Amino acid sequence: SHESKIDTLLSKMTLDEKIGQTVMYSSGMDITGPVLDKNYKNYIKNGQVGAVFNATGAAYTRKLQKMAVEETRLGIPLLFGYDVIHGYKTIFPIPLAESCSWDLGLMEQTARTAALECTAVGLHWTFAPMVDISRDPRWGRVSEGAGEDTYLGSLIAKVRVKGFQGNLSDNNTVLACVKHFAAYGAAQGGRDYHTVDMSETMLRNVYLPPFKAALDEGAATFMTAFNELNGIPATGNKFLFEDILRKEWGFNGFVVTDYTAINEMVAHGYARDLKHAGELAFNAGSDMDMQGGVYKNHMKQSIEEGKIEVERLDEAVRDILRMKFELGLFDDPYRYCDETKEEKLILSKAHLKLAREAARKSIVLLKNENKALPIDNSKKIALIGPLADDQDHILGSWAAHGHKNTDAIVSVKEGFEARAINFEYAKGCDIIGGDKSGFNKAKAIAKASDVVVMVMGEAESMSGEAASRTNINLPGHQQALIAEIKKTGKPIILVLMSGRPLDLSWENETVDAIVEAWFPGTRGGHAIADVLYGVYNPSGKLTVTFPRNVGQIPIFYNQKNTGRPADVENPDPRYVSKYLDVDNSPLYPFGYGLSYTTFKYGDTTLDTNILTLNSTITASVTITNTGDYDGEEIVQLYIKDVVGSITRPVKELKGFQKIFLKKGETKQVDFIIKVNDLKFYNHQMEFNCEPGDYELFIAGSSNHKFTNKFSFEL
Ligand code: IFM
Repeated sequence: SHESKIDTLLSKMTLDEKIGQTVMYSSGMDITGPVLDKNYKNYIKNGQVGAVFNATGAAYTRKLQKMAVEETRLGIPLLFGYDVIHGYKTIFPIPLAESCSWDLGLMEQTARTAALECTAVGLHWTFAPMVDISRDPRWGRVSEGAGEDTYLGSLIAKVRVKGFQGNLSDNNTVLACVKHFAAYGAAQGGRDYHTVDMSETMLRNVYLPPFKAALDEGAATFMTAFNELNGIPATGNKFLFEDILRKEWGFNGFVVTDYTAINEMVAHGYARDLKHAGELAFNAGSDMDMQGGVYKNHMKQSIEEGKIEVERLDEAVRDILRMKFELGLFDDPYRYCDETKEEKLILSKAHLKLAREAARKSIVLLKNENKALPIDNSKKIALIGPLADDQDHILGSWAAHGHKNTDAIVSVKEGFEARAINFEYAKGCDIIGGDKSGFNKAKAIAKASDVVVMVMGEAESMSGEAASRTNINLPGHQQALIAEIKKTGKPIILVLMSGRPLDLSWENETVDAIVEAWFPGTRGGHAIADVLYGVYNPSGKLTVTFPRNVGQIPIFYNQKNTGRPADVENPDPRYVSKYLDVDNSPLYPFGYGLSYTTFKYGDTTLDTNILTLNSTITASVTITNTGDYDGEEIVQLYIKDVVGSITRPVKELKGFQKIFLKKGETKQVDFIIKVNDLKFYNHQMEFNCEPGDYELFIAGSSNHKFTNKFSFEL
């Protein structure tokens, strides 16, 4: 078995060689922080490196692998990692976008496809999925997650891990790295890397379940988070890595730190110096040092001083070597470096087709007044906006090698051309900055058109890591351009590209239709044209709440009730929990999204009102497509635990089904409610379901009244 082979290898390794396995360096690229040390090639040859990230291409990874295998004493192969977040070269919509498809099969398939492409170029390990729950759109990394909901986020975490890893013994598995453990998405004020202080019940009920779900699916590795949690930086946090991850959850893969996160414990004020930081991190369970050089430079001394036990080092090395054995790298260190596969798979027809499908399914129709959409083919269009003729931003952040082959990227303008649409184009203004000199041309083509399509939003760099914003309006002169075009009286369709929910209160009042396309990826332009022209009927639903303004943040659908809840039907009373100036409701709630057709929900019925430990309840509803188009609907089940031993959210998503209904068709949808669905962590950190009353509703959005009651009896 692997374990006996690991024993044999460990027994041959010197202390330096063991430490080497805990070290990872970036191959020169400086994406998210400083490159502290460029000597990685020498270190590889000296056996001082266990993994390399940001090196790609079959030829290049083979070259580096050769150094490790042929020039070091024991020839231990390297592990190659990379941020393959939403595709390698064929780029799918950003993860937040894709989550709005609620299509688990699709998300598994895009992850699998990303794995096929990246494993052909020598990669074994992706730093994904990012499963951080976030309730704060100011935080730029909402773009990388699956939104604000724990239940949905957990299911998505699972399928992404499954898609990436496939079957661990195949040479097209890419090890998943679930990140960022933990609670990174709760950074104060939405400012990246900022402090997190939260109760353990909140941590366990909201932030940890997606990690556990990913682990249950077999996730091979975990990444630490940059933030501190309740006073202790995550990278040095024993409670997270030893107590929860290893002891409670039984994890036996390895943990990598985030980029220089060990070093940063000095700035956090938790470690005196780098050596001390290394001891805290390693003893807390951080097995591999990403880019910081701390283990490489200081671990030996820490061991000599007795600050780190050799047994602990052996454990970490064992867990790292196990992955290399499981991937078959000791049998053939080059099994992932395959130029023929690289040539055949990258940007293959099937992958590009999937990219278009994924982008279509990720789009959310937020507003559609007077049936402004879909656009009639005979209409003359003015296509306006800084993102209409764009190939730089459309992929979104963390686009891996997506930009390296621009031929495959389809802008909205190209998407229109491909459909032979009668249109004229004007940029109008820049995304950020610039001036208003383009307004006149834009206005002129708008006047000469029947319908104006404005493609606007954020720059790619405005979301993702270190991209927090306090103002989440459309940047630059874009709003002013909309206001100018509005004066022409033409119907305006606003197509948005963004990595986060924006404050669209003004746009919602101003334009006729709003299409949230997020950053849709390589085939985004085709997908947007498909939706605007009704070739695809939009079916996405928001997985994150859109606030009315920044002052409402944090705003999310599964909040608590408070002792003085505001009554939406009677908003006057003063001394209730509300703002004086803005309603408590969001602009667009979680679960919301329109279609070109309409769906009518019948009454929800329950087969019984009593749930017991051994029985279930079936909740049923019939749904009819009452509009003029065939379409998909995401049917959602929400439950409220009325009284709890700790206060419970006002509602929680507990099930959903995506169904397709032909025009006029009716279908029955059933949900089975089980005791497990109602469990939560109480004050004693017991995971249980409490006897008592519950309410539920089934609807096409989280914004709905409860329709049924049941009780759970022991
Ligand atoms: O994987 C990322 C992480 O999410 C943020 N910091 C850098 C890492 C490696 O690029």
